[in-house]
Amino acid sequence: MHGSADADGGTSSGARPVGADDAWPSLLDGRVPADVAGPASAELVSRYGPLVAAGPRLVLAQLGQSLDGFVAARTGDAVFVTGEEDRRHLHRLRALTDAVVVGVSTVAADDCRLTVREVAGPSPVRVVLDPRARLPRGARLLGDDGPRVLWCVGRARAPEAAAEGRKAEVVGLPTADGRFAPAEVLATLAARGLGRVLVEGGGRTVSAFLAAGVLDRLLVTTAPLLVGDGVPGLRFAGEDRLADALRPPARRFALGADSCLELDLSAVRGRRPT
Ligand SMILES: NC(=O)c1ccc[n+]([C@@H]2O[C@H](COP(=O)([O-])OP(=O)(O)OC[C@H]3O[C@@H](n4cnc5c(N)ncnc54)[C@H](OP(=O)(O)O)[C@@H]3O)[C@@H](O)[C@H]2O)c1
Repeated sequence: MHGSADADGGTSSGARPVGADDAWPSLLDGRVPADVAGPASAELVSRYGPLVAAGPRLVLAQLGQSLDGFVAARTGDAVFVTGEEDRRHLHRLRALTDAVVVGVSTVAADDCRLTVREVAGPSPVRVVLDPRARLPRGARLLGDDGPRVLWCVGRARAPEAAAEGRKAEVVGLPTADGRFAPAEVLATLAARGLGRVLVEGGGRTVSAFLAAGVLDRLLVTTAPLLVGDGVPGLRFAGEDRLADALRPPARRFALGADSCLELDLSAVRGRRPT
C-alpha cells in the first residue's frame, strides 16, 4: 500500500529499526527536543516536530504518487510507487498517530496490515471505511496480533456485520448517498480517544476527507515515475480559475529520489475544494 505499498518484510523483531535516531524516542513521547545531536536528528525534529507539537487533535492525510498523479497501476498494483525512504516516513506518520484510516478498496487491493514495522514505535488502531461491508474475509489485518480494527460499515449493515464474528469492532455509521461524512468518522474516532488520525489512502478516501475540509495537513510524496493510466490520487471538482484554487502554505523535503510536499490545510480552513 502507500506509495510504498504496505508489503510485508518489515523490520524483524529485536533488530535495530532502520532509521532509528536519538530524537525519535522523544518525538514518540510527544516531546520536541530543543537540542539535537546531529543532522539526522535535526531533520527528524524539523520534519515531525510540528506534527508532534500539534497536540492531541490532528488530522493528516498522505499519498504516494507517480509524477502523473497515480497511486497504483490500473490493476491496483501499488508495489511500489515511492521508495524506501517514503515507506519509512509513512511508518513514522503511523507511529505518531492514534488511528490510521483506509478505504476498503485499499484493503482489498493490498491486504495491508497498517502496523509500524520500519521504525520503532506503537502501531495505531486500524480503521476501515466500508459502507457496504465488503471487507475480504481473509484480510490479514483481521488475523494478525496487531492493534484493534474498527470496521466502519453503513448503519443498516451493522447487525449482519457483527453477526459474522470477525476480529474487529463493528461501528455502524449513517450514510448519505452511500458515503460517510468524514467529520462523522473523525468524531466517532475522537469519542474513542483517537484524536490524532492518519488518513492513509487510497485516492478516493483521501479526496473525500480533503473535499470535506477536515484535514489539517496533507502530505503527498511524488516519485519520478510515470504510470500513464492507473488508480488516481487526489480528485475533486475544483475551481474554474487558478486564482480560486487552494494554495495552502507548503513545506518540501526530499525522501531519497522522491519529494514530499506537506500542505498546511489548517491555514486555509473554511476554503475547501468543492
Ligand atoms: N500510493 C498510496 O499512497 C496508496 C495509499 C493507499 C492505497 N493505495 C492504492 O489505492 C488503491 C485504492 O484506492 P481507491 O481510491 O480506489 O479506493 P480507497 O480510497 O482505498 O477505497 C474507496 C472505498 O472505500 C469506501 N470509502 C472510502 N471513503 C468513504 C467514505 N467517506 N464514506 C463511505 N465509504 C468510503 C468506499 O467503499 P464502497 O466502494 O464499498 O462504497 C469507497 O469506494 C489501491 O490500489 C491501493 O493499492 C495507494
